[in-house]
Parts: sequence; C-alpha cells; structure tokens
Amino acid sequence: MESSRWKYIAIIATAALATVLIALLLVNIFTRKQEARQAYVAVTNLTEDTIEPAEWGKNFPREYDGFKLTSSTGPETRTRYGGSEAFSKLDQDPRLKTIFAGYAFALDYREERGHAYSLRDQDETERTKKKPQPGSCLHCHGSMLPAWRAAGNGDIQKGFEAICAMPFKEARQKVTHPIGCIDCHDPKTMALRVTRPGFLNGIKAYMKTAKGIDNYDPNTMASRQEMRTYVCGQCHVEYYFKPEGKAVTYPWAKGLKIENIEAYYDEIKFSDWKHGETGAPVLKAQHPEFEMFNQGIHSRAGVACADCHMPYKREGAMKVSDHWVRSPLRNIERACLVCHPFSAEEMKARVETIQDRNKALLDRAEEAVVALIHDIKDAKEKGATDEQLAPAFKAQRSAQFRSDFINAENSMGFHAPQEAARILAESIDIARQGQLAVRGLNLANAPKLRASTK
Ligand code: HEC
Ligand code: HEC
Ligand code: HEC
Ligand code: HEC
Ligand code: HEC
Repeated sequence: MESSRWKYIAIIATAALATVLIALLLVNIFTRKQEARQAYVAVTNLTEDTIEPAEWGKNFPREYDGFKLTSSTGPETRTRYGGSEAFSKLDQDPRLKTIFAGYAFALDYREERGHAYSLRDQDETERTKKKPQPGSCLHCHGSMLPAWRAAGNGDIQKGFEAICAMPFKEARQKVTHPIGCIDCHDPKTMALRVTRPGFLNGIKAYMKTAKGIDNYDPNTMASRQEMRTYVCGQCHVEYYFKPEGKAVTYPWAKGLKIENIEAYYDEIKFSDWKHGETGAPVLKAQHPEFEMFNQGIHSRAGVACADCHMPYKREGAMKVSDHWVRSPLRNIERACLVCHPFSAEEMKARVETIQDRNKALLDRAEEAVVALIHDIKDAKEKGATDEQLAPAFKAQRSAQFRSDFINAENSMGFHAPQEAARILAESIDIARQGQLAVRGLNLANAPKLRASTK
C-alpha cells in the first residue's frame, strides 16, 4: 500500500515534469520560430529618403552590426593578394607607372577597402584632387538615389544624367553618405533591388544581344539568386563615361567577355587617353569582377557573389547575411565550407595556388607590355611615323587592356582562373607581336600583326 502510493506520486511527478519540459521546449521552439519569422521589429518607418544606415539599423540591428565593420582596415586585414588595407599598387608594382603613363592612375592607385570608405577614398585620391573629374564618379561611391531624384525632379534617369554632367566638386555637394542600405534594398519591403542606371541600361543592352530579351529589367525579371549577384554587379564592373555628357556606361552591348568589350570600344573609337610615352590611344580597365565572375565555374554552377562575400551566420534561430562585405579568405569557414567539405587551410591553399599562378602570368604579361612600350618609344625617337607605328599602337592597346583587365579585377584570377589565363596568354602574344611589328619596320617582310586568336 505504502509503496504503491509512492509509485503513484512518482508517476504523477514524472508526468508533470515531462509536461513542463515539453511545454518549455514548445515555448522555446515557438519563440525561435517567431524570432526567425519576425525578422525585425519595425521601430522606425523607413522611406526612400532614409539614407542614414544607423536609422535602418534600428529595425535591423544584426545586419547593421556587420555593415559597420566594413570600416575596419589596416595591415592585419591583408590576405596574400587582397584584404582591406589601402596600400599603393603603384609602389608594389612600378611597371604600372609605365603602363598608365600620362593618365591619372599613374598618380595614385590603391588596393580597395571596405564600403564605409567609398566616399572618403574618392575625395582623398590624387585622381580627384589633381585632375578634374565629372560627377559620374559618384555613381558607385555614394548613396545616390535622393540626389538623382532631386536633380531629375523625380525622374532618376534624368537626374543621373544631370549629375554625371556636373564637375565632380559640384556634384559631391549633393551626396552625404557612402554606400548604404538604400543602395541594395527597397525600404518598404527590404527586397533586393538594383538602383544604378549604369547597370540597368547596361544589362538591358546585354540581354537584348545575348539572349534576345527586350526591355530586360532585373528588378522585376531576375531570380532571387541572380539578384544576389546583380546588386554587386551594379558597381563592380568595367565602365566608361560617354564622351558627350559623361553618363556612366557599361560596355556590354556585344557581350561580357573582354573581346566583346574591346570590339565595343573599337567600334565607337573610344580611348581613355593617349599613352604618355607612345601616343597610342589606349584603354583603362576598371574592376571587372562581374564580367570575369560570369566566365567562371561558380557562376556556371549558380553560386552568387553574396554566397561567398556575404555568407549566412547564425544568431539564435536566425540566419543573418553577413553584411561585413570583405575578402572571403578572412571568413573561409562560412564562405566556402558550406559547399566544400574540406578544411579552411585546404581551401585557402587552393585559392592561393590559383592566385600565385595567375600572378606569375600577370607579371609576364606586364613585362611584355612594358617591353613593347619601350620599343615603340625607341622607334619614335629614331623617326618612325605614327602611320608606320599603327600596328604597334593597336597591339599596345589590345595587350595593355588585357593585362590591365586581369590586374584591375580584384580576385587575382580566382573568380575565373582559366579565363584569366587565356586573357593573359593573349596579352603576352599580342605584345610580342607588336614588338616584332616595330622591329620589322625596316624589313621588306615586316610581320603582320595578328591581334586576335581567331
Ligand atoms: C566562390 C566564392 C566567390 C564568389 C561567388 C565571388 N567571389 Fe569575389 N572573391 C573570392 C575570393 C576567394 C577572392 C580573393 C580574396 C583575396 O585574395 O583575399 C575574391 C576577391 C574579391 C574582391 C577583392 C577583395 C579583396 O580583399 O581584395 C572583390 C571586390 C570581389 N571578390 C567581388 C566579387 C563580386 C562582385 C562577385 C560577384 C560578381 C564575387 N566577388 C563573387 C570569392 C568569391
Ligand atoms: C561603375 C562604378 C564606379 C565608378 C563610375 C567609379 N568607381 Fe571608383 N571604384 C568602384 C569600385 C567597385 C571600386 C573598388 C574596386 C577597386 O578598387 O578596384 C572603386 C575604387 C575606387 C578607389 C579606391 C581604389 C583606388 O583605385 O585607388 C578610388 C580612389 C576610386 N574608386 C575613385 C574613383 C573616381 C575618381 C571615379 C571617377 C573617375 C570613380 N572611382 C568611378 C566603382 C566605381
Ligand atoms: C551591397 C548591397 C547591400 C547593402 C549595402 C546592404 N545589404 Fe542587406 N542584404 C544584401 C544581400 C545580398 C542580402 C541577401 C538577400 C537575399 O538572399 O535575398 C541582404 C539581406 C538583408 C536582410 C534580410 C535578412 C538577412 O540577413 O539575410 C536584411 C534585413 C538586410 N539585408 C538589412 C540591411 C541593412 C539594415 C543594411 C544597411 C545597414 C543593408 N542590409 C545593406 C545586400 C546589401
Ligand atoms: C554602389 C556601388 C557598390 C555596390 C552596390 C557594391 N560595391 Fe563593393 N565596393 C564598391 C567600392 C567603391 C569599393 C571600394 C571602397 C574603397 O576602397 O574606398 C568596394 C569594395 C568592395 C570590396 C573590398 C572590401 C575590402 O575590405 O577590401 C569587396 C570585397 C566588395 N566591394 C564586394 C562587393 C559585393 C560582394 C557586393 C554585393 C553584395 C558589393 N561589393 C556591392 C562599390 C560597390
Ligand atoms: C554555394 C556553394 C559554393 C560556395 C559557397 C563555394 N563554392 Fe566553390 N564550387 C562550388 C561548385 C558547385 C563548384 C563546381 C563543382 C563542379 O561543378 O565540378 C565549385 C568549384 C570550386 C573550385 C574548383 C574551380 C575550378 O575551376 O574547377 C574551387 C577552387 C572552389 N570552388 C573554391 C571555393 C572557395 C575558395 C570558396 C569560398 C571562398 C567557395 N569555393 C565557395 C560551390 C560553392
């Protein structure tokens, strides 16, 4: 009797405890689910005029915390070829001074750093201090939407054109913040969006020629995964300023590969400057991450920029995109190991092997371009005419654009290793053919330049 009563009590107590535990578990699961679902508490009302990221941070503190870290900089952030220290690329590779002779890039050219510096570094570079630049420069360096809207009376394309046409110093007065939340997100829905007219116009032209799609608009027609690349492709691209009006333009109407871009520039007879040592009409490549990435295996496999540069991190039950946009080599566990079942050391070694090989080939290509520049200069001093030198000028333009394209692309070959190697091999070949053309000037059988592999 006594023992069966205790048994009862024990059973009831266990049942009660189990109920409490299950209830607690359910509550826990429920709150986690709520946490995960209720991505934010709308503390403040965000509008198209909310430029200040701290204001957005009130609703989205986790993303804001990551975003703020883009201001970290210094030697400890460096990777073998990248990182967030703004060291001088000209000091590191003096050949660039010869290659960029006569152009603003020979004055000051640095390793890039976090988005927080995008306005400041533009203000402080010798390229804007010593050379007159247009308002177009701001297109990718600041939170531009309110300024464009104001300048165009509500019409963004018109405002964009008006600000591009202004001198840099005047346009700069209209911009208060570096790259911010509003540049990638719709303040009402938080959906990703593309806001840069340069990208919207460029991708429309590309989609028409490449895929036969009329009036392509990424904001309504792209998949979510595509948007996770397009928001970065807004700025990490090759561009030029239209000679008339200085509108920022992406040269994609013939395609995204280097020879498509070169053919586009050749057709409109565009050159960025006349080379300071040879007088050849040459091109400057700028950060073609989007174009090169599109030629690589990760793009082919449907991986997006954000997968590696803004990987998810867990906070409670929440999956938060890491808004500390930076080198994935400083974040390998989260950036790579979600897809690749190896150690962080192994992944780093794979990247550095690709980069070392690319760097070796890049060095050879720059050597070849500099050798060609010296040969042309020599020939000029000995009286060769521009007409005689035309094939060598063409070779310089082509070879230089190729080595520069890979140098200006910021992954040191990683985004598309074989494409980078192909471009550098062409650069070396074309530069050496250019030298043969110069040296053969007095020969009866001067070799003919073959500027393309086709
Ligand atoms: C598969 C992963 C992956 C994807 C996807 C990817 N990248 Fe990268 N990216 C890298 C790696 C690795 C580096 C080399 C970093 C280094 O050298 O420190 C890099 C370097 C960079 C750098 C230079 C960083 C630095 O510290 O110097 C930029 C800018 C960049 N990528 C932009 C992009 C853009 C824009 C896209 C999409 C069009 C993209 N990346 C897609 C892996 C990736
Ligand atoms: C199409 C977008 C775009 C436009 C237009 C643009 N930039 Fe940039 N800029 C970038 C990106 C992306 C980076 C980071 C990648 C890099 O440095 O290669 C950058 C980096 C920089 C840097 C830091 C690294 C360096 O090169 O020293 C400076 C300074 C700079 N830009 C100045 C300018 C100036 C001056 C202009 C106008 C002539 C301009 N930018 C126009 C996108 C752009
Ligand atoms: C350079 C572009 C860019 C900027 C600037 C940016 N974001 Fe994002 N954000 C992204 C991308 C890419 C995602 C992933 C979206 C997806 O996968 O659909 C994202 C996702 C988010 C999400 C959804 C939840 C998550 O973490 O995935 C929130 C909320 C968010 N961002 C808030 C912010 C806030 C707040 C700021 C400014 C402090 C900001 N973002 C700045 C590109 C950006
Ligand atoms: C509005 C234009 C713009 C957009 C959008 C943009 N970037 Fe950038 N990005 C820049 C500029 C400009 C810099 C260089 C800032 C500097 O050096 O002062 C830069 C720098 C970087 C760096 C170097 C950071 C470091 O610490 O070295 C990486 C990596 C990068 N961007 C990747 C991305 C990725 C990935 C996306 C999309 C999620 C993206 N960017 C979207 C303009 C942009
Ligand atoms: C979202 C998934 C995903 C992420 C994140 C990712 N990769 Fe990959 N990676 C792939 C896929 C898919 C392939 C292609 C495999 C195939 O089809 O053979 C690939 C291929 C590669 C290759 C072989 C390249 C070649 O030319 O064959 C290397 C190296 C690599 N990844 C490195 C990295 C590094 C480093 C990172 C992090 C910075 C990374 N990956 C992040 C999915 C990913």
